[in-house]
Amino acid sequence: MKGLILSGGFGTRLRPLTYTGAKQLIPVANKPIIHYGIEALARAGIKELGIVVGATSREVEQAVGNGSRWGISIQYIQQEAPLGLAHAIKVSRKFLGNDAFVMYLGDNILREGINEFVKNFNTNHPQGLILLTKVANPQEFGVAVVDAHGAVKQLIEKPKDPPSDLALVGVYIFDQHVHTAIDNIQPSWRDELEITDAIQWLLDNNYKVESHMVQGWWKDTGKPDDIIEANLLVLEDISPAQNGQVEDSTLTGRIRTGKGSVIIKSVMRGPIVIGENARIVNSYIGPFSSIGNNAVIENSEIECSVIMEGALLKNVEKRIDRSIIGKNAVINVTDQSPRTHKFILGDQSYIEIAK
Ligand code: DAU
Repeated sequence: MKGLILSGGFGTRLRPLTYTGAKQLIPVANKPIIHYGIEALARAGIKELGIVVGATSREVEQAVGNGSRWGISIQYIQQEAPLGLAHAIKVSRKFLGNDAFVMYLGDNILREGINEFVKNFNTNHPQGLILLTKVANPQEFGVAVVDAHGAVKQLIEKPKDPPSDLALVGVYIFDQHVHTAIDNIQPSWRDELEITDAIQWLLDNNYKVESHMVQGWWKDTGKPDDIIEANLLVLEDISPAQNGQVEDSTLTGRIRTGKGSVIIKSVMRGPIVIGENARIVNSYIGPFSSIGNNAVIENSEIECSVIMEGALLKNVEKRIDRSIIGKNAVINVTDQSPRTHKFILGDQSYIEIAK
């Protein structure tokens, strides 16, 4: 069985973070989101992985490499434009050959991985196996109708009037019949070749499509709040490790500190991850915070936030909460006069100030 991770697309809902980088490379607990998918596939025994890339191909290749660090081989497959999940399979036809494969959307994170899901496919050998979970907002996802045995009856992409609350999680397994299905479908109203239409074609042509319910949490990191939530969920499971230097500080709970990091006169309440060579001085870092490599935090308070590498936060005494601060971004509170706010913000940046 091969693996196919989809890492193209524009990530418009994550702007401005995605103006300068791929959404699949945004760090969650200081690790690019796409690494979670690669690890899940490698743990399920997959050795040959294709990654579909688009405009951000260079940075994805740089952040992922040839797979040797996970003991697998990785090939990159260029998709000229994000023309749909089924289109991504179409451009990967040569890599996939006639093998069964797991398709994993590069912005998804699953706590329990996919071992059971793969085992389920290998036992029953349906033409398609989809992963489902109950959600409160099914209109934002692909939605499935299944019978009492889990056999899939109908699929609809982002329906206005959802027929069930079972959302398609971004992991699928197919055998070679999916290629015939894709050759027989037309682009949707949004001009994409939809994987839901391809699966519906399999159903309409009497192929077997089964479903598997997700165990543990699942997160599609499509929007900023999803990143904060995914960061929180991943940090809930971290184990502590101290590689940095701590002086005159109080650390409680599970905290990981990277090599060369320095924590001085600060209070930290885990779970927290701190990258390499980060510097935290006279600050409070609260639960569910990730601080990237080389970030500097001085005289500031942070909680439940993702602070990326090289960011500088200085004298931000009012607590920063549920925030995402991009690479090398600076927030500096000064006591200069006149007492003004000065902002140099990229397009679609977002600031919220409580009086
Ligand atoms: O996350 C689960 C949902 O993922 C499912 O419930 C939906 O049925 C499925 O269509 C998908 O919806 P999204 O709107 O979240 O898909 P998105 O456009 O965000 O693309 C998912 C990933 O695939 C993302 O990492 C970008 C990549 N992609 C997307 C398209 C459309 C590609 O590599 N190429 C593409 O053409």
